[in-house]
Parts: sequence; structure tokens; C-alpha cells
Amino acid sequence: MPVDTIRWTGKSVRIIDQTLLPNKLVYLDCRDVETLWQAIRELKVRGAPALGIAAAYGVMLAVRRFKGSDSAAFVRYVCDICDYIGRSRPTAVNLFNALNQMRQLALNNIDKPVVILRAVLESEANAIYEEDRAVCRAMGRHGAGLIKNGATVMTVCNAGGLATADYGTALGVMYAAKEAGKKFKVYALETRPLLQGARLTAWELMKNRIDVTLICDNMAATVMRDKGVDIIFTGADRIAANGDAANKIGTYMLAVLAKHHGIPFYVVAPRTTFDLKIATGRDIPIEERAAEEVTHFGLRPTAPKGVKVFNPAFDVTPNKLISGIVTEYGVIGKPFTVNILKNMS
Ligand code: MRU
Repeated sequence: MPVDTIRWTGKSVRIIDQTLLPNKLVYLDCRDVETLWQAIRELKVRGAPALGIAAAYGVMLAVRRFKGSDSAAFVRYVCDICDYIGRSRPTAVNLFNALNQMRQLALNNIDKPVVILRAVLESEANAIYEEDRAVCRAMGRHGAGLIKNGATVMTVCNAGGLATADYGTALGVMYAAKEAGKKFKVYALETRPLLQGARLTAWELMKNRIDVTLICDNMAATVMRDKGVDIIFTGADRIAANGDAANKIGTYMLAVLAKHHGIPFYVVAPRTTFDLKIATGRDIPIEERAAEEVTHFGLRPTAPKGVKVFNPAFDVTPNKLISGIVTEYGVIGKPFTVNILKNMS
């Protein structure tokens, strides 16, 4: 069922070029860290857990070209590469958590020969990949019970197999519910401006034979009122210690609408998406992207040349609008500050 979103071949990081979906399923071999960096920037590989994996394997790509046997120089090089990869996209904390893990491991083993350091880092990157596969399944198990037979579900962006090493977070819950024999339907928001909902979620759910209906983002309120949405699941890019959750722009709007319509709103995210150093969502860095993503549809201009544009890629949903957070440890409920800490420590 999962797609092969990202894989380390030993010489390259093989990703699906997600900018070409749904029209073409093309695998891209990133053979150097600069190509991978650019792929991250351009959302060829995307989604918080997949970004963590890409970051870890990006370190492996870079160290392939380190020459020499000076361990201290090698570790300095690893630290520089981690800083470089960290400048690709700022919001998904999975990327920084993976880089910190790689950096710390290199520092802890600075007394080892370069050949050992390389092997240790490679097995850490593989462990990050494997952990993500396992936690997707655990989140699916914990969340599936929230979907009642016959339910109508809503989601935004893509928090599926294309965003992880396995079958996803928010979509993983849906796949697990399907595996448990439930019948339900899904409304997927197209997710302007880059259409991850239309291009990726609709593609993924259709491929997995889940009943999906695509809507424009501005149809969400009408669909909630007129079609009887029972529950909403979204992913997250960074969750603060109090449960405020950053996710794709439009998620906050969805949560406000859910509150108005009395619809439970669940965030689905693994431990690696939590940033316990940040007390509230106010401190989450929000990526702003190029104006052309808003002023153009593909290459076609759809706005007057020179118009001012605001294009934040993410927004923060305040914890009070979130019913629960589905993690690999179970569903975390309120009060989030207490319960997140309890589950994560
Ligand atoms: O800009 P993107 O496509 O990387 O944004 C992705 C999202 O917002 C996802 O919902 C989030 O990363 C969770 S993926 C399991």
C-alpha cells in the first residue's frame, strides 16, 4: 500500500519527484547533497517526516565525498553539512531533529576512525527511516478507532505515504481504518497554492481505493454544513509543548470552521514532530515562499504583475481548537501541556 517515497541506495537518495504527480510517477536519484537540498526547497520531497529522513540521508550523501582520515575534520564537516541542510526549509522540526541526531552522534564518536564514523552515521540514518515506518503503523492503530463506520472525514494538504517512509500520519489513520473493514468517505481540500491535496492526497487515496472527493479550500465550510463531516484529521510540521500545531496553510482556518460546526479536529503526528523547547506556537518559524506560487498557476500568470503577495506556507492552529493528537504512544488529550510531557518523557 505505501509508495516508495524516499530510499537510500547507498550512492543516492532516491525520491519520487512529487512536483510531477499526479501526471507522472518519476523517481529522482539525488547523488549529491546540493541536488537533494534543491529537491527539498522545491518540494520534490516534502512532508515533515520525509524531510527528517531526507535530512539524515543528505548527511550520508555529503560524507561520501569526504576525503582523508582526520576524524575531527570529518566531524566538523558533518556539523557544517547539518547547518547547510538546516537552511533548506525552516518549519518542519523533523528535519532539525534528524540533523541534531546525526550531528550529536558524530560528536559522540569523534575518537573513532572515519570509516567507523561513516558506518555509525549510516545506521543512524537507516534507524530514522525505520522508526518512521513503525510509527506510521502505530499512529494508524491508535487513530483508526476514531473513524466510525459510514463516517465522512476531511483532510488538508498531504499527510500520507508521500510525506513519510510508510503510509502516513493523517492518511495512515484512514488506511488503518480501511484495513479494519470500515467504510467511510473523505473530502480532501485542494490546498492552495501548491495543491498537495489535489495532486497528492487525491492521487494517494484513489490509488488505495478510498472514496475521496476533491474540493477547493473555500468550499470547506459549505461541505461541513451540508455534507455532514464527522471528523477532521491533519498532519503537523511542528507541535509546541502546549499542543499548538503548525501545519500547511489553511489548517487553522479548517480548525476554526470545525469548532463552529462542532466537528472533532485531530492532529496526527509522531514524536519527531514535537518541539518541546518551544512553549507555544508563537515561536514556530513559518516559512514564506515565493510570490510566483500565488500569482501563477504553473507558468500562467493569474494576477497582475507586481501585485503585493503574502505567501506563508504554514499556519499555527491553537491548542484550544484541537480535540486530540494521535501519536505512536496513543491519542493525547487535554490538558496538552501536561499530557504531551507525560507521553514524551
Ligand atoms: O509544504 P509541505 O508539502 O511540505 O507541507 C506538508 C504539510 O503541511 C503536512 O501536512 C505535514 O508535513 C505533515 S506530513 C505527515
